Amino acid sequence: EQFVIGVDLGGTKILTALANREGHVLAEQKIPTEAAKGQQHVVAQIVQSVEQVRKKAGVKPEQVPALALGAPGPLDSCKGIIHFAPNLAWHDLPIRQVLERRLSIPVLLDNDANLAALGEHVYGAGRGEDNMVYITVSTGIGGGLIFGGRLYRGFADVAGEIGHMTVFPDGPLCGCGNRGCLEALASGTAIARDARELAACGRGAQILAAAGGDAAGITAVTVAAAAAAGDNTAESIIARAARYLGIGIANIINLLNPSLVVLGGGVMDIGEPVWQNLRTEVQARTLEEAGKSARLAAAELGGRAGVMGAIALAQRCAFGVMDNQ
Ligand code: BGC
Ligand code: NA
Ligand code: ZN
Repeated sequence: EQFVIGVDLGGTKILTALANREGHVLAEQKIPTEAAKGQQHVVAQIVQSVEQVRKKAGVKPEQVPALALGAPGPLDSCKGIIHFAPNLAWHDLPIRQVLERRLSIPVLLDNDANLAALGEHVYGAGRGEDNMVYITVSTGIGGGLIFGGRLYRGFADVAGEIGHMTVFPDGPLCGCGNRGCLEALASGTAIARDARELAACGRGAQILAAAGGDAAGITAVTVAAAAAAGDNTAESIIARAARYLGIGIANIINLLNPSLVVLGGGVMDIGEPVWQNLRTEVQARTLEEAGKSARLAAAELGGRAGVMGAIALAQRCAFGVMDNQ
């Protein structure tokens, strides 16, 4: 019997899953990305996680004809090189070669959000939708475009980098080096940064409290908790981020006229305050026909969209193209 492995490398977590030919997941593991320990260490984390999942399922390397890895940042999916990962500070890493040597399994590489789009298209909210956009709002902001039922990668694999669309000239600095990118205004990282800055000026008592009294412990999750506890500063930080998100989404809807926009990532888990502000902005800024035809939906696979997309890509490579991909 043959199996495939999917890995979703994120700025905060690494999710690894092993599935059978039909895509049923038999073993799965989630570990925190220890990005601060450097590139080598994170690669070792991926290797270890794959080995553990494989062993847990009792599968040998020769039974795995394909492993697909979703990684942040512009990359070369053909050559298997990550050019630049804004949130990991990686440059030109030939990750496919490194992993193949250490795992003895053929490796495919694609952008994390592209794979999440594929995951939602094949297994989630986007089933049967041939023109859809997936957006992940997490440590970074990424996008994946499915058009005519296929993943659109662009000329040099950089299509769908929604997070680096400029929405505020001269705005805050982004991990990519530019200013005012959507990611610098609406990602989990941006929410935490804004909250830390305001907490340092003595604003948002609940923000600090939710982070256990330590400004360094402030994350988008603790800001959301403070907002839920009624902290006005936290509420307005989240509303502002959601507003920028809505602006970005409206731009995309006007440009691409998708029938569905699927939203995933940790920031979307904050829930209603994000959705409400975002919808208002989308409604106000889309051309009527484009706006009316574009449904907004939460990722059905939640945090597992990326890893399921990786599995779908590996299945396609190992067992042939499936008609819904
Ligand atoms: C990267 C994208 C990625 C997103 C989410 C962004 O900073 O440029 O490629 O999809 O983060 O990880
Ligand atoms: Na992408
Ligand atoms: Zn950027």
